[in-house]
Amino acid sequence: MQTDICHILVLHGPNLNLLGSREPEIYGTTTLAEINQTLVQMGLDRNAEVKCLQSNHEGQLVDWLHDHRDWADGIVINPGALTHYGLSLYDTLVAIGKPTIEVHLSNIFQREEWRHKSVISPACLGIIAGFGADSYIMALRELLKKIQGK
Ligand code: DQA
Repeated sequence: MQTDICHILVLHGPNLNLLGSREPEIYGTTTLAEINQTLVQMGLDRNAEVKCLQSNHEGQLVDWLHDHRDWADGIVINPGALTHYGLSLYDTLVAIGKPTIEVHLSNIFQREEWRHKSVISPACLGIIAGFGADSYIMALRELLKKIQGK
């Protein structure tokens, strides 16, 4: 029997539109479009609709979370630098109460000290960091397992 399709919102924060050319020694050479395409395809293979959005503005990310609160069954989010100070994002994730996985391409704990703190982690099921573009794939796989009960 075909189970109901689930909906996953993938949000990317500031500067992630530059992936591919941005500090490739840290973030790799995969572009954001390639990451999104992989995630959408993974969803298609797993009975999930995956919608990917990127913004350089915290308020826009908050608005998209509000707009998708009835649609989304789960969230994958890489807030970029907002990870470290984006308190409105934390508040929004708590307010909408969806299963959320935090993602980073780089291992934020190996980098500058100010990157070691994430203000959104307490609102997330877990965090996957340090595996480049694969961090997103791991996050989506684990989130779908959780939501689909597999
Ligand atoms: C990042 C890590 C952040 O510290 C940084 O500001 C980013 C990207 C990552 O994916 O490794 O923009 O979230």
